[in-house]
Amino acid sequence: MKLRFLLGPVLFCAFTLTAAAEPLLIRFAHVVAEPTPKGFGAQRFKQLAEEKLAGRVNIEVFPSAKLYDDNEVFSALINNDVQLAAPSLSKFSIITKALQIYDLPFLFNDHAAVERFQDSEAGQNLLRSLDSKGIKGLGYWPNGMRVISANRPLRTPADLQKLAIRIEPSKVIQAQYQRLGAIPIKLSFADVRDALRRELVEGQENAWSNIYSQQFQTLQTYVTETHHSFLGYMVITNQAFWEKLPADIRSELEMILAQVTTEVKAKALEQAERDRQAVINQDNVKLIIPTDQEREIWRQAMTPVWAQFASQIDPKMIAAAQAANQPTTP
Ligand code: LMR
Repeated sequence: MKLRFLLGPVLFCAFTLTAAAEPLLIRFAHVVAEPTPKGFGAQRFKQLAEEKLAGRVNIEVFPSAKLYDDNEVFSALINNDVQLAAPSLSKFSIITKALQIYDLPFLFNDHAAVERFQDSEAGQNLLRSLDSKGIKGLGYWPNGMRVISANRPLRTPADLQKLAIRIEPSKVIQAQYQRLGAIPIKLSFADVRDALRRELVEGQENAWSNIYSQQFQTLQTYVTETHHSFLGYMVITNQAFWEKLPADIRSELEMILAQVTTEVKAKALEQAERDRQAVINQDNVKLIIPTDQEREIWRQAMTPVWAQFASQIDPKMIAAAQAANQPTTP
């Protein structure tokens, strides 16, 4: 009788604790619009995670800098106020020099080269380069090669003289435009549209999906398809949070992330083509496609910036990146 009296409340408590266990909340903050490769990736991650781990995880996605702006997201992640983010590789320069390599102009020929580099030992080492800061790199997502939009035609590097151009907060990108005589201005992505509208800046560089989803082309007449650098992301989490996840949830989330990464890669190429077309279909927009010789002139004007960062970027990394421009033979 006594035992029944004791066991009753214990069993009841155990039952209510299990029944009341809340799904684990994971917040994913990013700055771009939903119809972009990153916007798609975050939503797809939420969909698959909530499907495969039904009742166990709840993923809240905050696009368009609704929760944190570019600069705030790193400290928010370190404080575990947000658990997932995917800043552009250029934005990491405020917390590490290791990823500056991605901003070296004309380092990568195309998406495929970037992917080969990211899959290589060097690329995977970079993914782990933030461990000491409590940030875990979970993977890379692509967006696209950068083009430059402006309110005047940029046919040669000399046309950038005195152009006030919005850039991401990267010292390499800043130096690249200073070399060309432009006036680089670091602004958060959320502020770019307004800055263009108010003519505080006269140009900006970005991937096609960011231009189209923000309708920058309604405020800019010329787009030069330089493809001088790659805009991509590192998906990151708070390391302590990730390590404390129940092992089965963690490995399921990692598998889902791998699947989403494959989908984002396919989506990025297809979306770049579609959004490029949508931008140039607009009557006011004039697309400038440099010939091979003109591209070589852009390359020669921009690449001297590499020397400025020679002491900060490991030459072995650069060699690995350059090697990735060669397709591997099957
Ligand atoms: C930008 O600031 O232009 C981009 O990094 C935005 C993004 O996340 O793609």
